[in-house]
Amino acid sequence: METGKSLGRRPRRASATPTEILSAEHDLILDVVKTLEHGLDKTAQVDRDVWRDALVFLRSFAAQHHAKENIVLLAALERQGLASSEPSLQNTIEEHREEAALLDAIANLLPELASDDPDVAARFRQAARAYCAHLNAHMEQEARYLFPMVERELSEEDERDVVHRFLLHRHAADGEDGYDRLLALASHLRREA
Ligand SMILES: [Fe+2]
Ligand SMILES: [Fe+2]
Repeated sequence: METGKSLGRRPRRASATPTEILSAEHDLILDVVKTLEHGLDKTAQVDRDVWRDALVFLRSFAAQHHAKENIVLLAALERQGLASSEPSLQNTIEEHREEAALLDAIANLLPELASDDPDVAARFRQAARAYCAHLNAHMEQEARYLFPMVERELSEEDERDVVHRFLLHRHAADGEDGYDRLLALASHLRREA
């Protein structure tokens, strides 16, 4: 079956395009989020160890994903003449801010879970579900509006430049093996949550 990614204006290339890279990261992040949501559904007890690891992953991998979109991708679109005030671009940046704030709320509540106070557990679950719902909706919007815009506006040369900048950004943020360690953490979370 023909997928959204294969409906682009040009034939598929050997190397991954920016939207293919970002879509694969969405899949990984949403996979982790789905297991976290499943963990919240299946037991009244919040697993603090799982959420501690999840915060490490989400604050590193997901935050770096958002940063690549903010710093590299949106800048490339602006170079094509799209105004930074374009609502869909502003929306993307604003939602990344909201997700960081939602993650902070989870991180602030995590130590309090040790008290076994049911009110704290209820607030934690509410914060965790709000983050997961926000991220799901955000990534769906990007797949629907932002990524097609990128595929429409950027030339092959622009896309190669974006991919190169993604790699530079990744190494600067995570170091040589940081990315692989985060992938391993994602696998661990999908098994444990
Ligand atoms: Fe995003
Ligand atoms: Fe994204």
